[in-house]
Amino acid sequence: MRTQAALYEEIDLELSWSEQELPERERTKHVHRLHPYLGKFVPQLAEVFLRRYASPGQLVWDPFAGSGTTLVEANAFGARVAGCDVSAFNCLLMRAKTGIYDPAALLGDVVLLSHRGENTKARRPGSFMRRWYASRSVAELTAFRERIEGTAYPELWEVVLSRSARSARLARHDDLDFPAEPVTGEYFCHKHRRVCRSVGEAEKFLRRYVRDAVLRVQEFADVRSSQDVAVIHGDARLVDPPGPVDLVLTSPPYPGLIDYHEQHAYAYELLGLERRDSDEIGRGVKGYCEDISAVLVRARRALRRGGKIVVVVNDRRGLYEGILAAAGLRLEDRLLRHVNRRTGRRKGEFYEEVLIATP
Ligand SMILES: C[S@@+](CC[C@H](N)C(=O)[O-])C[C@H]1O[C@@H](n2cnc3c(N)ncnc32)[C@H](O)[C@@H]1O
Repeated sequence: MRTQAALYEEIDLELSWSEQELPERERTKHVHRLHPYLGKFVPQLAEVFLRRYASPGQLVWDPFAGSGTTLVEANAFGARVAGCDVSAFNCLLMRAKTGIYDPAALLGDVVLLSHRGENTKARRPGSFMRRWYASRSVAELTAFRERIEGTAYPELWEVVLSRSARSARLARHDDLDFPAEPVTGEYFCHKHRRVCRSVGEAEKFLRRYVRDAVLRVQEFADVRSSQDVAVIHGDARLVDPPGPVDLVLTSPPYPGLIDYHEQHAYAYELLGLERRDSDEIGRGVKGYCEDISAVLVRARRALRRGGKIVVVVNDRRGLYEGILAAAGLRLEDRLLRHVNRRTGRRKGEFYEEVLIATP
């Protein structure tokens, strides 16, 4: 087996795009930027493996589907696709991204949403809202939430509401992923390298993101296929794909890296979604290998002859050889990819491995 040092000399240049080769607008094309999500892979990575290992009409399975990168790309490629995630917000996001929208009905919704009247039914905001928002923002967000009722595409507007809520938090611009403390007034912002002010309203985000969402779903409509997309809200240890699978393309959670429920805490509260934190794999190292193996065993059993399992992971603890073996899988290839870290204040080199496994 190659050592980690030797591995790092074997970076796969075909998969390690530079900023020039793969600018941000490509990485965030159409629905991929419908809502921020920490921990997704770039759509171009999914494209490469779909082209390599799948054909249009075949079934692609992602047991840890997250923000739906595999679902969106597999659909655009012309494959049938199914994805599972334990997080209710991620499932909402995936349904919004892969939904089919009638342009006239979309326009009707936009008109309905722009009628700003009195918010007569305002519910008392929850503790997260009270702590993390200016009172004007709370009023604007809750009023928009009421206007969503009666629209043709409530889930799309819930995603817009959540995106606006994320932007309107009393969080520093340079600490949007997991802000520690609310900030009010002025502060020195490391992202913009100047003094910035905390956010006092949500309406400007709501307006901007409604427009943006319409453009993005319409852009995706131009490239999407009519193949089936299934989103399953569940614990992947207990869920089987909906049929024989030709390609598994997934990136599992990794221990101690990202808290997938907490990163969208505002959405859970504002949208009244059920949290299943205790079912989230990767909250600790204990049991991690068994959990991922259990998911991969189901994937292996559903795999057609000749099918591949592609796992994208930053395996800094060297767990995956054992995990694959325990799942009855053979590691066929291991590709190393250099990831440009571009957002927030995280520093340093970042690598990702793509493991190609077969039964
Ligand atoms: C690395 S992310 C996947 C990101 C995805 N590839 C994308 O591009 O958006 C891992 C996902 O696994 C999900 N997850 C964690 N535990 C799970 C479980 N028990 N069953 C299903 N999904 C789970 C998390 O909610 C998270 O969305």
